[in-house]
Amino acid sequence: MTVETAAQAAYIVAALLFILALAGLSKHETAKAGNTFGIAGMAVALAATIALAIAREISATGLILIVVATGIGAVIGLYRARKVEMTGMPELIALLHSFVGLAAVLVGWNGYLHVEAHPDGSESLILKNQDMLGIHSAEVVIGVFIGAVTFTGSIVAFLKLSARIKSSPLMLPGKNLLNIGALVAFVALTAWFVVSPGLGLLIAATIVALALGWHLVASIGGGDMPVVVSMLNSYSGWAAAAAGFLLENDLLIVTGALVGSSGAYLSYIMCKAMNRSFLSVIAGGFGIEAGPASDRDYGEHREVDAAAVADLLSEADSVIITPGYGMAVAQAQHGVAELTRVLRERGVTVRFGIHPVAGRLPGHMNVLLAEARVPYDIVLEMDEINDDFPGTSVVLVIGANDTVNPAATDDPASPIAGMPVLTVWEAENVIVFKRSMASGYAGVQNPLFFRDNCAMLFGDAKERVDDILRAVTASVPAGR
Ligand code: TAP
Repeated sequence: MTVETAAQAAYIVAALLFILALAGLSKHETAKAGNTFGIAGMAVALAATIALAIAREISATGLILIVVATGIGAVIGLYRARKVEMTGMPELIALLHSFVGLAAVLVGWNGYLHVEAHPDGSESLILKNQDMLGIHSAEVVIGVFIGAVTFTGSIVAFLKLSARIKSSPLMLPGKNLLNIGALVAFVALTAWFVVSPGLGLLIAATIVALALGWHLVASIGGGDMPVVVSMLNSYSGWAAAAAGFLLENDLLIVTGALVGSSGAYLSYIMCKAMNRSFLSVIAGGFGIEAGPASDRDYGEHREVDAAAVADLLSEADSVIITPGYGMAVAQAQHGVAELTRVLRERGVTVRFGIHPVAGRLPGHMNVLLAEARVPYDIVLEMDEINDDFPGTSVVLVIGANDTVNPAATDDPASPIAGMPVLTVWEAENVIVFKRSMASGYAGVQNPLFFRDNCAMLFGDAKERVDDILRAVTASVPAGR
């Protein structure tokens, strides 16, 4: 068996391992196994690629470059993955997507420099004889285009997610026309480049794509960022597939298509969960107009202290806890789990209501609560618990804000209008744990805080939960 055949066989094994990885990652119980399959698939793919390069008599310098680049990448990757906080995962993922985009741009440019830039070179002549030169040129522009959109789009997503720039949507006049104009320019440039592949055309296509990627993501508001991250995940897959066509690498095509289609499906599911139009989000917020600046006066808010909340809980029959990003920041999940245990021991019904985009990544709250050993059966999805708020004595909103904002249902001008939220205000009492009156990720004021049945418990969520826990345990003699 030649190295070429062995490498093709290894590619099929790697592709199967990637499919098993995706299947495993779809459920909590099998997620670890899914990760292991993914790592194994990537190891097989890397080994096969290096073996192929050696069999094709790569130069010693080339081989050294591969080894050094892989080593540096592995060290940086391991270091970042070990250091990153769970709340920082989406921004890290956005940054990684930008690398995929950049790689696709470089592969496209490399293809141009090898083939179209030397019309009399051997590769150009071979492709010309096979009548494939036009296809190669189209692959170059399409690969560069998808890669460049992914690259700048992911950089903007990284900047927004890490709060380095404002998360509110950029509203340029005629923004939809700008996007459509960029797409028309791309189609025209591709056709022109296929007919006469010139350097200027490729530079123009690259610039249009870089600007479009930047504008598409900048135009999307903070509340819709979860969909944007999964959409960029999908784009990065298509960018990899485009690079696979240029490099004639079947595994890259298969893997890119897997990432591209699974990312597109995840975006679709998230759009449905957030009542957003899929097409509108991928078209950079097409048809979404920003609401007026939130300078409305909602009146006065009310404050409570931990002791008063402990009293309220001691008299409650049923409690629902709706955690959000602030619980993750404060790392309050262990205290929350302990409070839950104590209250349940005293006969209080305690359940959790989890919004699909609470926190900063899908399943963020579920992972934290599972880590703190909160039983799965009391952790309910938003749709499962939303009808139960009216009969509930106390709701503890722990570091959540956008996901419990009544403006989403009451105010059609709000940037989060139409997004389904946890209807916590229908309970008898609502206690909101946060450090200030600051807005949530979407940057909109929350009228919940000013409702008569709502009170604010200010401070770090972990400290306040621990205060309540102490007060609750002190207020009722153990063994009641
Ligand atoms: P957010 O709306 O982000 O609000 C979190 C609140 O936690 C803030 O208002 C903050 O108020 C408070 N907080 C922060 N640190 C705290 C601490 N140490 N102790 C107590 N409170 C603290 O949270 P959410 O309701 O979970 O909504 C998530 C938002 O993120 C949505 O807009 C969603 O679209 C977006 N998003 C989600 C994802 C995914 S996939 N889940 C990805 C990207 C973006 P103070 O500063 O006043 O304390």
